[in-house]
Amino acid sequence: MTTGYLSTKLEVRNAPEKGGYAVYALKTIQKDEVLAVWGGQVVTLAQVLELTREEQGHTIQIYDELYLAPMGMEEPADYINHSCSPNAGVCGQISLVAMREIGIGEEITFDYAMSDSSSFDEFDCACGAPTCRGLVSGSDWKRPDLWKRYDGYFSTYLQHRIDKLRKKAMP
Ligand SMILES: C[S@@+](CC[C@H](N)C(=O)[O-])C[C@H]1O[C@@H](n2cnc3c(N)ncnc32)[C@H](O)[C@@H]1O
Ligand SMILES: [Zn+2]
Repeated sequence: MTTGYLSTKLEVRNAPEKGGYAVYALKTIQKDEVLAVWGGQVVTLAQVLELTREEQGHTIQIYDELYLAPMGMEEPADYINHSCSPNAGVCGQISLVAMREIGIGEEITFDYAMSDSSSFDEFDCACGAPTCRGLVSGSDWKRPDLWKRYDGYFSTYLQHRIDKLRKKAMP
């Protein structure tokens, strides 16, 4: 059973080089199309810290200390990998949309900086993009270069935090 949504134009495939699985386009996708809506159970930071490393990696942060976690359910949207040169972006807090047209066979990726501000899920990035920043960390959302590149594609709770940081820098 799944509580989330993955577009029928997408497919989860084996990708051992990506730590297990990855999500690919089976059909051409237009800019702004909804690709996925994350599902699962709403859990607190304290509950997330009780999960295994793998389970933690399959959560999506939706507020400062709230997350959606699969909790044993099959959530295909949790197999969408990070890239430092992504083709998808966050819309609201739980949806993923195409940032540009996506071709058949392309892997669907988003930048985890668009949704994540936690330190428990940091990893060395293997996206291979020329702009790859190496370590993916829970403080990447604070980078002004990413604010510019992903304008309109940050999770709502992070956009509020970015707006506050901006105000502080330019009173
Ligand atoms: C939401 S899961 C993505 C699906 C994952 N590939 C899997 O099969 O379980 C997030 C985890 O995948 C891995 N991951 C995602 N994007 C990655 C990337 N660009 N480079 C290295 N590992 C990545 C990291 O271990 C991360 O904690
Ligand atoms: Zn990268």
